Amino acid sequence: MRPFDALIIGGGAAGLWCAITAGRRGRRVAVLDHAERLGRKILISGGGRCNFTNLHASPANYLSANPHFCTSALARFRPEDFVREIELAGIAYHEKKLGQLFCDGRATQIVALLLDACAAAGVELVTSCRIEQVARVEAFVVQTSLGAFTAPRLVVATGGLSLPPTGASDLGYRLARQFGCAMVETAPALVPLTLPEADGLAGLSGLSTDCTVSAGGTAFREHLLVTHRGLSGPAILQASSYWHAGAALEIDLLPDQDAHELFTTARAAGSATLGSVLATRLPKRLAQWWLAGHGGDRPLQGLGAPALVALAEQLHRWRVVPAGSEGYRTAEVTRGGVDTHGLSSQTMEARAQPGLHFIGEVVDVTGWLGGYNFQWAWASGHAAGNAL
Ligand code: FDA
Repeated sequence: MRPFDALIIGGGAAGLWCAITAGRRGRRVAVLDHAERLGRKILISGGGRCNFTNLHASPANYLSANPHFCTSALARFRPEDFVREIELAGIAYHEKKLGQLFCDGRATQIVALLLDACAAAGVELVTSCRIEQVARVEAFVVQTSLGAFTAPRLVVATGGLSLPPTGASDLGYRLARQFGCAMVETAPALVPLTLPEADGLAGLSGLSTDCTVSAGGTAFREHLLVTHRGLSGPAILQASSYWHAGAALEIDLLPDQDAHELFTTARAAGSATLGSVLATRLPKRLAQWWLAGHGGDRPLQGLGAPALVALAEQLHRWRVVPAGSEGYRTAEVTRGGVDTHGLSSQTMEARAQPGLHFIGEVVDVTGWLGGYNFQWAWASGHAAGNAL
C-alpha cells in the first residue's frame, strides 16, 4: 500500500484545486479518478471557454438547505484569488456580462493550469482508476483497480450526477451514506424545462425573448428560449434550480415596462390595437401567439378598464406549469447532495467521520449559472486543502 497524507477521489475542479492547495503546503496527496482524462467538465464548460468564476460571487448566489454554510469558504478564497492564478499562468480572459469571467481562448488552458500546478506541487494523479471499495481501519483504505491506497484523510470530490458521459457517478453520495452523513435530496438543476404537449408553444421553437422568470420566490431577468420540447435559455436555467415538480413558473414578458400604462396611453392616443402595441414590445411571433390565446387582435378603444387591467396582468404574470425537466442528461449541475449541517464550514470535514471531507458539487451547495459553481469548487477545495 502506498502511503499518502490524503487521498482525493475525483479530479475535477474541486478535487484538483484541493490537491494543489494541500500539495503546496507540502502534503503528499494522490487524486484518484476513474476517467482517462481529468477535468472533462471544465473542458466543455462555458461553451468551451470555461466561465471559471464570477466577480460578484456571494452566498446569495447559492442554493442550500443551509444557506450560510458557504459563507466562510467563499470569503477565504475569492474570485480574485483564482484570477491571480489565471494571470500568473498568462491566460487571457474577459468579462462577458454580469461579472462572468471567461477565457479568451479555450478551456483547455484552465485544465493545463491545474495539471501544471499539480505537477509543481508534487500531486500524484491516478487516472483510469476504478474505485472498488472504501473502508476505514484507523486510516482510510481505498481499494481500486490499480491496487490499494491508504491515508489518514480522504476527500470526496466526485461531483454531481449531471452529464453521465463526462464520468459523473453517485459514488460520493454512496460514500456519504456509508460513513453516516445525511443527504439532501438531489435533482437536476440549471436544466431546460419541458412543457405539456398541449401547451402549443412548440410552434415558437427557436424564439428568444428578454423577460423575468420567477420560481420559488426568486426572479431572474435574462433571455428565455422556446425549444421544441419546452423552455430553456439563461432565465429558465436559473429558475429551474428553484423549481419543484408541479409548481408554476411566473413569467413577466414585459419587464421594466407597465403594460397597463402602455395600453391606456395608446388607447387615449387614438386608433391603436392590442396587436399594434404588442408588436412594438415583443418579438413578432410571440406577439401573434399571445394574441391568439387572448381573444385575438382588436381595437383598444373597445376594451374597458377591467379588460386592460386583466390583459396587462397576463403579460406581466404569465403562469406556466412545466411537465418536468430534461433531467441529468442536459443539466449543468445537481441540486442537493451531502447535507452541510453535518460538515464543518471551515474544513468541509464530516462531523460523523473526522478525517473525511466533501467538496465541490457533491455537497448541497448549488450555484447560479455564470461561474458560481466553479467558484464554489475552488473555494471548497481550498478550504479542505488547507486542512489536510
Ligand atoms: P466534477 O464533476 O468537475 O468532477 C468530478 C470528478 O470525479 C470527475 O473527474 C469524475 O471523473 C470523478 N468521478 C466521479 N465518479 C467517480 C468514481 N466513481 N470513481 C472515480 N472518480 C469519479 N460551472 C461554472 O461555474 N461555469 C461554467 O461555465 C460551467 N459550465 C458547465 C457546462 C456544462 C455542460 C456542465 C455539465 C457544467 C458546467 N458547470 C459550469 C458546472 C461545473 O462544471 C461543475 O459545477 C463543476 O465541474 C463541479 O466540480 P467538481 O470538482 O465538484 O465535480
